[in-house]
Amino acid sequence: MKVFTTKEALKTHLNSPSLCAKQIGFVPTMGALHEGHLSLLRECKKNNSISVVSIFVNPIQFDKKDDLEKYPRTLSNDLRLLENEGCDVVFTPSVDEMYSKNSSTLQFDFDGLEDIMEGAFRSGHFNGVGTVVKLLFEMINPTRAYFGEKDFQQLLIIRKMVEKHQLPVQIIGCSIFREDNGLAMSSRNERLSKSAKQEAALIYRILTVVREMTTNHSLEDIHQWVCLQFKDHPLFFLEYFIIANERTLQTATIIDPKIYYRAFIAVKVGSVRLIDNIAL
Ligand code: PAF
Repeated sequence: MKVFTTKEALKTHLNSPSLCAKQIGFVPTMGALHEGHLSLLRECKKNNSISVVSIFVNPIQFDKKDDLEKYPRTLSNDLRLLENEGCDVVFTPSVDEMYSKNSSTLQFDFDGLEDIMEGAFRSGHFNGVGTVVKLLFEMINPTRAYFGEKDFQQLLIIRKMVEKHQLPVQIIGCSIFREDNGLAMSSRNERLSKSAKQEAALIYRILTVVREMTTNHSLEDIHQWVCLQFKDHPLFFLEYFIIANERTLQTATIIDPKIYYRAFIAVKVGSVRLIDNIAL
């Protein structure tokens, strides 16, 4: 496994004559790798001749200094996990290496996908994500790039960016990987205590009940029920719960059997913010 910290060295390696005709599969990450990330890498390895993983905690997608500072960083363990999975190339640049001095965050129009949920609660988040992913795509030139459905809104936004900027990469969405208790795997789970991790399984339990409820309850009843589960809860704070069209992310007003919907949720477990979603 080759590990690069500079763009120049990465590009030179990927453009070398022995590699340049190969199909590159790319998994962008912010590190603190878990089975969810490794499942993306396994998928990537199945269909491409070279696998590239980036590890970069992207400061411009965080709107809170504290959240950025507390984001888990476990580089040596990450490298060990990637090596064991047979990853070919890792790119792990510093912030200064990634962004040159006078570069600025790009401003994207994602046709409104950016205005709700994560976009509404985390100012500038998707411009930050779009900026770093576009830069990485331009550096790595992947044939396919792999994103988890836990960040479903991010997945749609990346697809929109690729379509609008006509980037020559296929975006592959991969199913959510869950702990045995149902909690969606996330690097942020590292910040939960053992008991909070157990309690946080409530989020997925609620989503599975919501899925059942859509067959015989009104959307209003479902909302009320979800809010009630978190009301006055000592550990959890519900930031949003939305049932939305899976393609446009427009909030559902009725359930139309011809349309695919998903329920999306963001919950603070103490100071750790978790998101999850479920297809209905
Ligand atoms: O999903 C993530 O880990 C990040 O948002 C990404 C796509 C690596 C961009 O920094």
